[in-house]
Amino acid sequence: MNIIKLLSQMTIEEKLGQLTQFGAGLFIWSKAGNTGPLLNWGLKDEDLCRMGSILNFNGAEEMIDLQKTHMEGDRNKIPMLFMMDVIHGYRTVFPIPLALGASFNTEIVKECTRMAAKEAKAAGVHVTFTPMVDYVRDARWGRVMETCGEDSGINSIMGAAQIEAFKEMGMATCVKHFAAYGGAEAGRDYNNVELSEHILREHYLPAYKACIDAGADMLMPSFNLLNGVPAVGNKWIMKKILKDEWKFDGIVISDFGAIGELITHGVAEDKKDAARYAFDCGCDIEMCSTTYMSHLKELIEEGTFTEEQLDKAVYKVLKLKEELGLFEDAYSGASKEAEANTFITKENREIAKKAAIESAVLLKNNGVLPLSKDTGKVAVIGPFADEHKIIGFWSCMGKDEESVTVAEGVKAKLPDAQITVARGCGNVFDDTDTSGFAEAIEIAKNADVVLLCLGEPQNYSGEGNSRTELDLPGVQNELAKAVIDANPNTAVVLFTGRPLAIKTLDSIAPAILNMWFPGTEGGSAVAELLFGDANPSGKITMSFPKSVGQCPIYYNHTNTGRPKPVDKDECQMTYMSSYIDCGNLPLYSFGHGLSYSNFIYEDLTLSNSEMAKDDSIEVTVTVYNDSNRAGKETVQLYMRDMVGSTARPIQQLIAFEKIELKAGQRKTVKFTITEPMLRFWNDENQFVSEKGEFRVSTGYADHLILTQGFKLL
Ligand code: NOJ
Repeated sequence: MNIIKLLSQMTIEEKLGQLTQFGAGLFIWSKAGNTGPLLNWGLKDEDLCRMGSILNFNGAEEMIDLQKTHMEGDRNKIPMLFMMDVIHGYRTVFPIPLALGASFNTEIVKECTRMAAKEAKAAGVHVTFTPMVDYVRDARWGRVMETCGEDSGINSIMGAAQIEAFKEMGMATCVKHFAAYGGAEAGRDYNNVELSEHILREHYLPAYKACIDAGADMLMPSFNLLNGVPAVGNKWIMKKILKDEWKFDGIVISDFGAIGELITHGVAEDKKDAARYAFDCGCDIEMCSTTYMSHLKELIEEGTFTEEQLDKAVYKVLKLKEELGLFEDAYSGASKEAEANTFITKENREIAKKAAIESAVLLKNNGVLPLSKDTGKVAVIGPFADEHKIIGFWSCMGKDEESVTVAEGVKAKLPDAQITVARGCGNVFDDTDTSGFAEAIEIAKNADVVLLCLGEPQNYSGEGNSRTELDLPGVQNELAKAVIDANPNTAVVLFTGRPLAIKTLDSIAPAILNMWFPGTEGGSAVAELLFGDANPSGKITMSFPKSVGQCPIYYNHTNTGRPKPVDKDECQMTYMSSYIDCGNLPLYSFGHGLSYSNFIYEDLTLSNSEMAKDDSIEVTVTVYNDSNRAGKETVQLYMRDMVGSTARPIQQLIAFEKIELKAGQRKTVKFTITEPMLRFWNDENQFVSEKGEFRVSTGYADHLILTQGFKLL
C-alpha cells in the first residue's frame, strides 16, 4: 500500500475520520435506523464510513459485519482498526494484573498474554489497550487491580513482557495511562494528581518509558489533572517529556471522552478550544468525543495547525493498519470458526490455572495448610464458597459462569470427600443479615476442615470503583469469628482486587491464602494449593495496610528526619513520624508471601567493597530449602543509597530471581550491580549516581536480612 499516495487522495473530512474512534454500538444503532445517538454527537451516517477505528465490539461476527459495511461505504477502502481492553484475558480469563505482579514470573505473564492474543485475534481485535502500568500507592483506588503495584521496576518488567508477547502474536499495544493516573488524591478515581517532578520522574514515569522502549505502538494519556493541567492537554508531559525527551513517535489516543472533558475540567472554553489543546499536545486519535471531527478543519483553515500536521497523525494510523496487514485482509483472519477453535480450550484453562497458582499469596499460615487429601469432611463457607464471580473487573469477553468456583474445584480434587457448602452471609456483600450464620456454624462443627471463602466482590475494584473502607464488607468478620470459634481448623481463602485492611481477620484466622481475582480456573487453583498439589509462591507487590488511614502506604519511602524504629512500630512514640493509634508498618509488606517450604537465606556476599563507575559488583546469596517439599522462592535484592542530594528510599528492590528448589536443595543466586542501577533524580533533576556508601540486603521490604555494604567511587 502506498500510504503517501492514499493520503494525497483523501479529503480533510476523511482524514479526520481516521482520527476518530467510537464504540461499535453507534454503528449498530445507526444501521438499525436509530440515528439518535449519532445526532447527539453531531455526526452523520457518512461520518461512520470514514471512521478510522472502533472501540470494543462483540466478537468476530460483529467485527466482520461492521468492517464489511464500512468498506462498502468508504470510497478509499481503508479498513477500520478494532481496539479493545484485553487486560487479563479475552474469553479465558487469567488473574488480574495485580496478581500477576505477585507471581514475579514474566514467563507466566507472557504465556497468558499469548493466550489472550490468540483468542482476541480470532475475534478480530487488532489493538489492545494494554499494558496499564500506572504506579500506585493507595489501595482505595479501584484501578490498583490493573497494575502491578508500588514498584516501578516490577511495573516496567511486567508491562514490557506483555508488549513483547502481544507483538509476537501480531497484535498492537497501547501503554496507559500517561501520566500518574494512579496518584489520584484520596484514591478517588479521576481525581486530581499533584506531584513534584522529582517523585514523578523517580516512581511514576519509568514504567511508561520502559513500555515505549519495549515497542508499544500507542500511548493513552490519562484522565487526570497533572499539576493543574489535564494529561491530554498537558504540554509538559505530552510535548517535553513524551516527544522531546523520549522521542515517542507512535500513535497517541485520548481516553474515553477525555478531550471533551477538557471543557469540564475548566481548561478549554468549548469543543474547538479542546480540540486545539489536545491536537497541539500531539493527541492523534480522539476516543468517543467529536471535537476533532467538528473543529480541526476550521483550526487548519484559520492557520492554527497545518494540513501537514494533520497528515502526520493520519499517516501513523494508516501505517499501523498496513503493519497489521489490514490492507491485505481487512478481517485479519477473524471468524466464528476461529473463535470456536480458540476460546476457552482445555489448554487455555491449564494456562489460566497455572497463572492463578503462581500468583496466589499465602499471607499467613500457622500450620493448618497444606491440608491432607484424605480429609473426609470439608465445609466450604462464605460468600465466595460457590461464587462464579471471581474473574475480576476488566474481564473482557470472559463469562462468570465459565469459571470454576472453590466448591467445584474442591469437589473435583476430592471426589470421595463429603463436602458441604454454605454462604453464611446474605446475597449482597454489604448485607448485615446474619441469619445464615447458624447453618455455617453447624457445618463447620461437623467438618474436619473449613475453607472460609471471603473477600470483596469483583465490582468493588476496577474503573470508577474506589473505596473509603478497606476491610471485608458486610458481616464477614463476624462470620469468620463464629466459624473459627466453631472449628479452629479453618483456612481463609481471600478474593480481592486490591490490598485489603484485614487486621481483624488476620488476628483470628489460622491461615490466609490470598487468591486475588484468579480468573476462569480460580477454584481449581485453590484446590491445588490448599491440598498441597501446588506450593504457594506469590509475593505481594503492593502493601496491605493495617488501617485505611495509613494510605498511601508504600515500601520504598524515605526515612524522614524522625523515623520510628521498626522494632518499636507498635509502641506510641511522640515527636517521631508516627500515628498515636496505629503502627507505621503495613500488615503485610511488599515482597511478603509464604510457602509450604521453609527457605533459609545464607551468605550474602559481595565480590568487592568498592566499585568504580565503569565496574560492577557480583552479589551472591544462597537459599536452602529446609523442608521436605519442593517449592519456588523469589529471591529479592534490595538496596539503600545512604546519602544522596535528594533523600533516597530506605529500601528499593533492584533485582529478583524466582528459583525452584527441591526438598533439601541449596542454590546460589547471582546478581550483578552496575552503576546505572544506582542512578536517581538528583537535586537538579538529573538522572545520575552519586558516590558514597550503599547497602544491599535480601529478605523482603521491612524485613531485610543479611545486609552488606559497598562504596561507589
Ligand atoms: C476508559 C479507561 O480509562 C481506559 O483504560 C480504557 O482503555 C478506555 N476506557 C477504553 O475502554
